[in-house]
Amino acid sequence: MKALIVSYCPRGERSRTKQLVDYAAGVLKSKKASVEVLDLAKEVPDFLLPDRLASYYRRNYMGEKLAGKDLAQLKKMDQMTDQLMKADIVVIGYPMYNFSQPAVVKGWFDSVMQKGKTWDFAQGGYAGLMKGRKALVLSTSGGAYEGDLASMDHSISLSKLHLSFMGYTVEAVTGAGINRYPEREQDILGAAKAQIMEIMARFV
Ligand SMILES: Cc1cc2nc3c(=O)[nH]c(=O)nc-3n(C[C@H](O)[C@H](O)[C@H](O)COP(=O)(O)O)c2cc1C
Repeated sequence: MKALIVSYCPRGERSRTKQLVDYAAGVLKSKKASVEVLDLAKEVPDFLLPDRLASYYRRNYMGEKLAGKDLAQLKKMDQMTDQLMKADIVVIGYPMYNFSQPAVVKGWFDSVMQKGKTWDFAQGGYAGLMKGRKALVLSTSGGAYEGDLASMDHSISLSKLHLSFMGYTVEAVTGAGINRYPEREQDILGAAKAQIMEIMARFV
């Protein structure tokens, strides 16, 4: 079992999200999974700026064989995609920023959601090519987005959409309300860890 952990916790050791990511890594290791870590605070994804987007479109949509500078522009995107495709299980951990994923995390999804590699068109519809694989999204947020506020969360919901579009079976665990209820921080993180353990028991 190969696991990839994709983490964006720029507050380092002060990060509450990192506590969940580290916990999930420990559970995976205890189940003898090989664990590779991609730290997006150090390995920042490339953006789909004009030249790179043109190369991506020419190769992945038009079927052109690229070489030289055109191909080189896609190198980091391809490395991140290949790394993901080698993993049976992916864990993605990041805090909520402005009701969504941090931009760096969105940049990673833009890098790996490559037509022809992780998803494609098939028989007139979309096909997720990562079928049979598992994904776990881990996050913390200052507020809690439940009930009437649920529609304000574009963070977990967006990651779930990205991953299920690629074919993954997706679960998510959120340490929500961690700033709103500071006295409950340890309870919130403890409950999140219990959920991670329960999900990993099904995943691995
Ligand atoms: C730039 C920034 C934007 C944030 N935006 C939101 C937000 O929209 N909603 C929310 O509930 N919390 C928001 N927060 C709070 C964080 O999600 C929360 O403190 C989280 O637990 C931080 O995770 P960390 O301890 O792993 O860094 C934001 C924090 C930062 C730094």
